[in-house]
Amino acid sequence: MEFIKWKEDLSVGVGIIDDQHKELFRHINNFYNSIVNKTNKEGVMQVISNLENYTRIHFSFEELAMRNGGYADIAAHIKEHEAFVEKVADFKERFYSGRLLLSLEVTTFIKDWITNHIRISDQKYRGIVV
Ligand code: FEO
Repeated sequence: MEFIKWKEDLSVGVGIIDDQHKELFRHINNFYNSIVNKTNKEGVMQVISNLENYTRIHFSFEELAMRNGGYADIAAHIKEHEAFVEKVADFKERFYSGRLLLSLEVTTFIKDWITNHIRISDQKYRGIVV
């Protein structure tokens, strides 16, 4: 099931970054489906690790592109990235140790965060990162 769907109004005007955002959404959908389908713990760990890893790949790529483009507000943007990666790593760690029951609240948090981030923060480098 598609829990989060990329739409044209989320485009940042850079094809490769739009493609990465679509891939990120695919990982978020996998995570959502693993919760809905009550996948076993190992399976959920794999899916959340994939999401975490791909998020790091995307953020690194985007930060390099912002640096190369001379984007002035890069420090604030990187802070947002770091906070999100920490949050996902924290969900994973707490789930693994049995201190967090992953729920739709967690997937909704991830969905809302990434959508708002693309809509507001990523849009700010539109035209600067090419
Ligand atoms: Fe596309 Fe700043 O994340």
